[in-house]
Amino acid sequence: MRALYGAWSGYDDDDRMGGFLKGIFHDRRDYDPHTFTSVLPKAIQYLFLEDENDDYTGYGRPEWTDFVEQVIGKQQEGVGKSLSRLLVTKRNNATIRERYLPPELILKSRFPGQSIELLDAGCSAGIGIRAIERGQGSTGKIDDQTDDQISKQLKDVHLRVSGGVGIDLENLENQLAWVVACSLHFNEVDKLGFRRLFKWLDSQEKSNIGVRQANILDRDLVVESGSSLPGYHLEYASFDAAMILTSLFQMNDSDVVRALGNLRRATKPGGLVIAQDFFGLEESGKIDRDTPKIPLKDLGIEDPRFIVRYRDIYGGHAYRTLLLELDHEQRFSRAMEVFVLDGGKCHQILPGTDYQSFLESAANM
Ligand SMILES: C[S@@+](CC[C@H](N)C(=O)[O-])C[C@H]1O[C@@H](n2cnc3c(N)ncnc32)[C@H](O)[C@@H]1O
Repeated sequence: MRALYGAWSGYDDDDRMGGFLKGIFHDRRDYDPHTFTSVLPKAIQYLFLEDENDDYTGYGRPEWTDFVEQVIGKQQEGVGKSLSRLLVTKRNNATIRERYLPPELILKSRFPGQSIELLDAGCSAGIGIRAIERGQGSTGKIDDQTDDQISKQLKDVHLRVSGGVGIDLENLENQLAWVVACSLHFNEVDKLGFRRLFKWLDSQEKSNIGVRQANILDRDLVVESGSSLPGYHLEYASFDAAMILTSLFQMNDSDVVRALGNLRRATKPGGLVIAQDFFGLEESGKIDRDTPKIPLKDLGIEDPRFIVRYRDIYGGHAYRTLLLELDHEQRFSRAMEVFVLDGGKCHQILPGTDYQSFLESAANM
């Protein structure tokens, strides 16, 4: 991937590259340069995979330079046209099964042996919530750095997911090749096997969890039961736990608060909302003046801390699991930073600031 970015950046002052980028930004107003850079390798990977060609996994800078030449040389046809089309129309729909281990551990601690209904917002193709349903979130391969090795302790605890719903802004069940291209790094295509992951995604018909298109920001998304609005909507206070993983960072602060509000409304009193993202909980004294932050009091929680966005998402340990508890009147009552992960791929799990409080509260349930 580094070789691709190296080749690409060699064209910074090239007019043809300028024209290519201008065309994309003109056609897609919601794109910022960051979104563009994150979707670029995924779109390129998709083109190669669609062609059943995995040569690109071994490309160095000269090969990528040839590729960039093809893209910007003929922008109205061939690979240039296909790449522009993807960059103008597609989102980052990456989904990583390992990311669902930390929420699964929280659910196992809080609902051991109980039957629960789950909601996953921003679920992509539903791979993660269905992995939790099958008890496959805990692969045992994660490097568990918690003192008590929580993943080992909870390995045999049974979680009974009786049903649930995954929602995503897009209907991705018919776009699995795109989801796979988004989810693997170039060097993982050989290791994990494109076809294996594709097959796994494609064989989920036995699940009790329905995946459908819906916007978590929609003001009318969560409705009282009995309301005659089937299909799209979520029933008020109907889930034991609601999750949102790696999706909030794509939203502005007021939308983050709105999304969490909808998750809360969909969750039963006494239930849990799990937000795992490039966000942590920090006290004001530790926060840089320019760091984007949301006061927990904006969520109605009596805690002087803030939900802080970590800008350097590739910097390591920025990706974290936050737990928001609901009281018996369905208000947010407490926020905890339970886990810190080594990155969005979750190879390693470490205790978050409130890990001990989390264990204590789980023991008192
Ligand atoms: C990076 S993917 C994360 C997928 C999965 N949760 C994971 O962590 O592996 C983010 C997903 O959030 C979805 N998304 C973004 N905004 C959304 C919204 N307002 N409502 C529902 N889904 C949204 C995107 O379409 C995308 O599939």
